[in-house]
Amino acid sequence: MCGIVGYVGRSYSKNLVLDGMQKLEYRGYDSAGIVFVEEKTSRLSYLKKIGKVADLAKGLDGLSGDGFVCMGHTRWATHGIVDEANAHPHFNCKGDIALIHNGIIEGYEVVRKELALKGHKFLSQTDSEVLVHYFSSVFELYKSVKPSILDLVKKFKGAYSLAILMQDIPDQLIVVRHNSPLVLGKQEKGFFVASDIVAFAGKVEEFAFMPEDSIAIINKKSIELFNFSGEVLLPAWQKSSFVFDIVNKDGFEHFMLKEIYEQKKVIERIVNFYRLVGTDSKLSAHNDLGNYFDYQLDIEYQDRIWQQLGITIDQVKNLKNINLVAAGTSWHACKIAQFFFEYICKIQTNVYLSSEFCYMPFFEQKDSIYIFVSQSGETADTLQALRRVNSYNIPTIVITNVASSTMVQEAGGFLPMQAGVEVSVASTKAFSAQQVILFILANRIALEQNKITPELMKHAEEDLFIAAQVLELSIENYKWEISQKLAEQYSVYKKFIFLGRHISYPFAMEAALKLKEISYIFAQSYPAGELKHGPIALVDNNTPVVIFSSLDDIIYKKIVSNAQEIKARHGHLVIFAFEGQTELADLAEQAFIVPRVNPFLGPLAMSGLMQFFVYEITKKLGNPIDKPRNLAKAVTVE
Ligand code: F6R
Repeated sequence: MCGIVGYVGRSYSKNLVLDGMQKLEYRGYDSAGIVFVEEKTSRLSYLKKIGKVADLAKGLDGLSGDGFVCMGHTRWATHGIVDEANAHPHFNCKGDIALIHNGIIEGYEVVRKELALKGHKFLSQTDSEVLVHYFSSVFELYKSVKPSILDLVKKFKGAYSLAILMQDIPDQLIVVRHNSPLVLGKQEKGFFVASDIVAFAGKVEEFAFMPEDSIAIINKKSIELFNFSGEVLLPAWQKSSFVFDIVNKDGFEHFMLKEIYEQKKVIERIVNFYRLVGTDSKLSAHNDLGNYFDYQLDIEYQDRIWQQLGITIDQVKNLKNINLVAAGTSWHACKIAQFFFEYICKIQTNVYLSSEFCYMPFFEQKDSIYIFVSQSGETADTLQALRRVNSYNIPTIVITNVASSTMVQEAGGFLPMQAGVEVSVASTKAFSAQQVILFILANRIALEQNKITPELMKHAEEDLFIAAQVLELSIENYKWEISQKLAEQYSVYKKFIFLGRHISYPFAMEAALKLKEISYIFAQSYPAGELKHGPIALVDNNTPVVIFSSLDDIIYKKIVSNAQEIKARHGHLVIFAFEGQTELADLAEQAFIVPRVNPFLGPLAMSGLMQFFVYEITKKLGNPIDKPRNLAKAVTVE
């Protein structure tokens, strides 16, 4: 999604900002722009380009000069098509004030019309451009920055972070945070601001998250921070130990493939990180994937895991309701985890889609917790849901891969996912990591509530190691057949149906999502038992039906019956089954057989193989696997 980077200081700024923009590329964007006050002319100099920051950088070679104040933006289109007019920065009519913006402005059309009636000319279809025209008009009135920006934040609703650069006040940046993150960075020669700390990791000595609903006026020597009422705030500076590790493909053709193959190591690392060791129950932290997301869990003894989560042991012992909230792939991991909490802890568990959660009635439950699961920790829908629950006196916990994310700052407690940087837009290793952490958490709660013994807890950890091995082994077993034969064969189909039952149903949903997001092939998932209630009308020989089996004997028998119903209608069956499930496998045109694991870990064990199958199909189609069209890595708009 959109990214903001700004610099004010004593160093030439163009390349510092460009470098930061490159580091934000992982978020996904479709155009980029940069603006600075040119040292010699004292005028705003800017460039916008559709496509990559690298294209912008090439263009900048032809744009002479540099300056000491600069801001850059990567845009993921929301209002208006992808073109240079809609790319940021946007300018006021005189062209002497520039603005970049992340987020969405609600009700901007009314203000746009009012300003147009007063003679303002708009060059783009964006909501963002309205902000700069409005700011310019109020600045003419107040002739001072602070009242003008306070007026602007009162006027506009929505979710936004923005930065403003004024030609006539060339040594300052004005930045605003409202429901969209911004972080400040301090170094000896100046200040940075960015939507993600990654943009200036390694370049600053200290950083401070801008508080929600705050404004900063940054100049070369100081930062004036205040809230939306104009009251002065002090930035909470922290020493910065973030290092930006260059994440490369390590010889793999795509990040997605690399990340699929990292999963075994990630699972082992998480278990080691959270595991109970011996009788003194010490937790050890492993650091072998070393990256800037690394977070040293401050836990010496097992009880302290609950402190880390901001809940007391008594609260854990009395827990009667668990609520999981997430979006997309993370939501699928939560749907799988519902089985962990309900079967292992025997605690009723609700799973919510974050985009729906805020618009449904809220029922306060006693002895409940809310767990928010998000790879990025920035997903706007999930963040809004977290804020809603935070307004009640109920414990909130976030499980995320990004220790510096907004969700971590706002949740009552935090468990690090420890998956390492996930670059591919299509989530793979984060999905596995989420399943692992939620499985461990379910067992830890069950242990605390005396529903399992310490022995069973240890078995659960060993089972995770086994599942990790199976995940990788299954890819190896079918690697050749998939890449040399099956990928080609299945890439010709225009639609797929994915089925599962019980714990394998959310996994089927995830498989359908993976296929559609990278291959652009239409894929629909259903619980296998629902097929006969309508969707079976879709079954024909041109639509592969992919079924994921279960290790529960009763569910398995039901799945066999569902497969037979499809076979009887000349359906084309692709089956992911476990060893010994020959009755099911024999029905298939293509069967993938996976070694048996702890039944709760069946989806985890099959994750790698499913992802690899989808990856290879997409490779045959020649799509941009790591950056599928229209998608972004961090979805920071609602
Ligand atoms: C799909 C995918 C998305 C994300 C979703 C939530 O591969 O990655 O569906 O899972 O946008 O993102 P996070 O987990 O960052 O909240």
